[in-house]
Amino acid sequence: MGDERTLIALLQEAGEILKEGYFGQKRVYKKGSVDLVTEYDKKIEEFLKPRVAELFEGFEVVAEESFEGEIPPKAIFIDPIDGTTNFVHQIAYTCISVGVWEDGRPLEGAIYNPILDELFWARRGEGAYLNGQRIEVAPTKELIDALLATGFPYTKTQKGKDFRFVIESMERLLPHTRDIRRLGSAAVDLSYVACGRFAGFYEVNLKPWDVAAGILMVEEAGGMVTNHLGKPYRFGDIIVATNGHIHHQLLKHLGSWD
Ligand code: IPD
Ligand code: CA
Ligand code: CA
Repeated sequence: MGDERTLIALLQEAGEILKEGYFGQKRVYKKGSVDLVTEYDKKIEEFLKPRVAELFEGFEVVAEESFEGEIPPKAIFIDPIDGTTNFVHQIAYTCISVGVWEDGRPLEGAIYNPILDELFWARRGEGAYLNGQRIEVAPTKELIDALLATGFPYTKTQKGKDFRFVIESMERLLPHTRDIRRLGSAAVDLSYVACGRFAGFYEVNLKPWDVAAGILMVEEAGGMVTNHLGKPYRFGDIIVATNGHIHHQLLKHLGSWD
């Protein structure tokens, strides 16, 4: 297992690359009609890949901009920029996420937003931390007192199943909550659940690199992560991550989806 100081140092170094792009000029490309990628997504990914592979010996890198194929049992998930749309539009909710998994379980994760200089780190059994200080989920007991977060998948443009989930889940849930935010970075959302800023988060159609570090962050901060049916979360499921207390209230209002 890697040394957390080294993973943290790596993310801080990668954060300097992100900042250069955030405040400077950058080439922006389209992966789809609304799915953006920049030269900085690629730069950060290329910077991290060999370094994390060296840090976590025996693990294979699964990085958003270059991964193809099957997810290996020992994987290091890299999202070089989570919240690329925010990055392009200079909205400060953007981060680098690295999550290390073995046999379907997260072992270690780090999420760094260099714009706000917030570094979240967790290791299984050792707790979750924000800039070195231990963090815990919110004590909120009732959904009506809960500030939640969600996100909108790029597939929304097709107005299919995912789009209907976004609209209908909002219709079902929103009246029962304090409010719902859409910050634009699933990794930031999950780390905000971990440190108690949000009491819960849910989203459809996220990829493993979006959630690999954040899931561990929430669990190690005392929270709960399942799918929308309350079953153990598997990559590809609708994710529901909360402080635990409001979990079943949220699931109830979210309802069932196929
Ligand atoms: C996206 C962000 C966003 C979520 C999208 C993700 P990207 O990741 O996490 O919040 O709603 O579904 O794809 O493309 O910025 O790495
Ligand atoms: Ca992402
Ligand atoms: Ca990304």
